[in-house]
Amino acid sequence: MALKGLHHLCTHSVRASPEDATMAPNDFTGQVALVTGGGSGIGRATCLLLARDGARVVVTDFNVQTARETHSLMPNPEKHLALQMDVTQQSAVQSVIATVRDKYGEPPSLLVNAAGIMNIDPSFDKTGDVVINVNLKGIFIVTEAFTEELLKGNEGAQEDKGVIVNIASILGKLGHPDFRHYAASKGGVITYSKSCAAHMIRKGIRINCILPGLVDTAMTKPFTEEFRQSICDKTPLPRAGKPEEIAEVVVFLLSWRSSFMVGACVEVTGGDGM
Ligand code: NAI
Repeated sequence: MALKGLHHLCTHSVRASPEDATMAPNDFTGQVALVTGGGSGIGRATCLLLARDGARVVVTDFNVQTARETHSLMPNPEKHLALQMDVTQQSAVQSVIATVRDKYGEPPSLLVNAAGIMNIDPSFDKTGDVVINVNLKGIFIVTEAFTEELLKGNEGAQEDKGVIVNIASILGKLGHPDFRHYAASKGGVITYSKSCAAHMIRKGIRINCILPGLVDTAMTKPFTEEFRQSICDKTPLPRAGKPEEIAEVVVFLLSWRSSFMVGACVEVTGGDGM
């Protein structure tokens, strides 16, 4: 009898109806997605997949030229926006969110925090201030602005209101002797994501986090071939990832298909660091 009841519950919670099975993958039609760091690498690949799957995409980046390039790669560019946004500047972030609300008549309900930097040359950021400001504080600032806008006048209600995916790094779990500030900033992203996920889920906002391994993007281009190869050699699948291989997991985590995932840290590393 108890099992019968459980089966009944499960059938409903996984939405396994034939109608759902024929639904287009990740249908974000009608939703507005804001992506930080959308001008390059993982952020750009995410913008393109979100556009593929029907979202109206707001590509933001510190470098507006690259954000515009991403925008120009999308089908139906009139549906989407490209805006300059420095994630470390609270007023700039708030003003972008206001612009989005004015353009679409609603705030974004999907957020991908992909902006990030790595201080490969340790003399560039000896105190780690820049890395912490962009990689960690930037996520605080954008997340606070996004959730505040989404919950305005609607804090108590239980329905699904929004989803956030934060891009951390496998180094945030493992640490790294050469990238100490960077690894610490990403460790912070992991614990912030979990804390925020627990805080926000009962307000209707679901948050998860991705830990990529080595991915070929502008960020890792300065690595010497020897260093890059040493990472590949210790990885069970001995190669670097492509930005699209991370972005596919991002859109999965944004979609209802991951509706029971809260505060998860998903490693997408080819097995590195498992
Ligand atoms: P990328 O360098 O190709 O893209 C990062 C983007 O962030 C750039 O377009 C840059 O202009 C933007 N950005 C930098 N500072 C910003 C700021 N203050 N405000 C707004 N935008 C800013 O790098 P990638 O690889 O695509 O990185 C995306 C995320 O993935 C980062 O958070 C990175 O730490 C993370 N990651 C990357 C890995 C890799 O191997 N490429 C591995 C693990 C994590």
